Amino acid sequence: MNPTKPETQVEAEGTTRMSRDTLSVTDNRTGKAYEIPIQHDTIHATDLRQIKVNADDFGMMSYDPAFNNTALCQSKITYIDGDKGILRYRGYSIEELAEKSTYLETAYLILNGELPTKSQLEEWIYHVTHHTFIHESVKKFLDGFHYDAHPMGMMISAIAALSTFYPEAKDIFNKESRLRQTYRLIGKMPTLAAFSYRHSLGMPFAYPDNDLSYAGNFLNMLFKTSELKYRPNPTLEHALDVLFILHADHEQNCSANAMRCVGSSHVDPFSATAAATAALYGPLHGGANEEVLRMLLEIGSLSNVPAFIKRVKAGETKLMGFGHRIYKNYDPRARIIKRVADGVFEIMGRNPLLNIALECERIALEDDYFVKRKLYPNVDFYTGLIYQSMGFPVTMFPVLFAIPRTSGWIAQWQEMLLDPEQKIARPRQIYMGSELRPYASIGQRG
Ligand code: SDX
Repeated sequence: MNPTKPETQVEAEGTTRMSRDTLSVTDNRTGKAYEIPIQHDTIHATDLRQIKVNADDFGMMSYDPAFNNTALCQSKITYIDGDKGILRYRGYSIEELAEKSTYLETAYLILNGELPTKSQLEEWIYHVTHHTFIHESVKKFLDGFHYDAHPMGMMISAIAALSTFYPEAKDIFNKESRLRQTYRLIGKMPTLAAFSYRHSLGMPFAYPDNDLSYAGNFLNMLFKTSELKYRPNPTLEHALDVLFILHADHEQNCSANAMRCVGSSHVDPFSATAAATAALYGPLHGGANEEVLRMLLEIGSLSNVPAFIKRVKAGETKLMGFGHRIYKNYDPRARIIKRVADGVFEIMGRNPLLNIALECERIALEDDYFVKRKLYPNVDFYTGLIYQSMGFPVTMFPVLFAIPRTSGWIAQWQEMLLDPEQKIARPRQIYMGSELRPYASIGQRG
């Protein structure tokens, strides 16, 4: 690439014009012109390195804290159009999958790129179902936590601990091994979650029942008491399965980025999933559903909503469950979740906090502060109301996000591993610290 002689494309009549798929850049510090190729409406950041003032300069970088405008990969898993409120897994709309699919079928789609045939689905369900048990030693590990330990802290630790039970998981470029760890992770997440919940209640663990569906078995391990055979309520079982579908993946969000970044060091998938779970725990990410419930409880009544909204607009607090880095329109998942909520409330009774939530949404959708910032309800705004009505404590809400997102994390991890363009993640920095200075003895400081 010759920076002074821009690449041109000779047209039929002999005239020349700039090639359409390049960016013409002039560095006004030197007057040099550069042609930078454009692919997928994007430039390769390393193409900027040729832009220098002096030949021995490092060359130009791009600066993008929090990756507001930086693609870290090419991916085929999930497509989001934030302005149009579109979400698709492998080309299938979230609306159709929520209506017609199941979580395990959707997880297969996300991981393999295609909907399974009948025999593929049966084999997939068989293997996930037969990997729901955990090693008895993991129970001892979980018993070591305080009764009031946050279940997300228990989950992060327990998932990492699984890496010590399956050392062969380090063989990450062995396809059969990756599939076995995938069965284990997807199969065991509900068991670890349920055991963490039962630990907090001081109740004995209820073992998996392989006769039940993925969501049904999860409800069994959570709520089974003295009955010989737990029978999940079909409405709640279906509602949970739909919620799992809605949470399965969401392209390059914070926790997916953690999965890819940590996985890029070629660590095993259990350790990478523990890192992703830790990222999800944050109140700005998957921990938001817990914060929404705490916020609604703090507001307490409809009459307090205007004063709370006033505090939000004064920048004193956030309207948790609102806003999104990508969606500048209504999160399509929130719309579906509101419908799921109606079904759950019919069984469990209407959640009294729903009126407060609906009033917050009504005001936010009209008030210029929120409209100007394009702050709409996101996936976390209504899920907590459903979970609370189903009997979950607020601390379990982010755990209910982590369980289904495991399939998305594994799909992102695997795509990163098999992408020839990817290697260990190691961002650059702009150094703004001290220049070289001599060591100061203790008497010379201060
Ligand atoms: C998830 O990335 C994903 O895909 C995540 C997720 C997934 O499926 O993986 O969709 C799941 O994490 C959903 C988001 C859950 N988090 C919350 O609900 C927490 C509350 N929301 C915010 O913290 C915020 O909206 C984020 C973190 C979600 C997005 O933050 P951005 O894109 O960095 O936006 P920003 O913080 O720069 O905000 C832009 C402006 C700011 O105001 P100004 O400085 O311009 O005056 O909007 C304001 C913010 O103060 N703002 C809010 C707000 N969110 C943003 N003001 C009040 N309440 C809010 N919730």
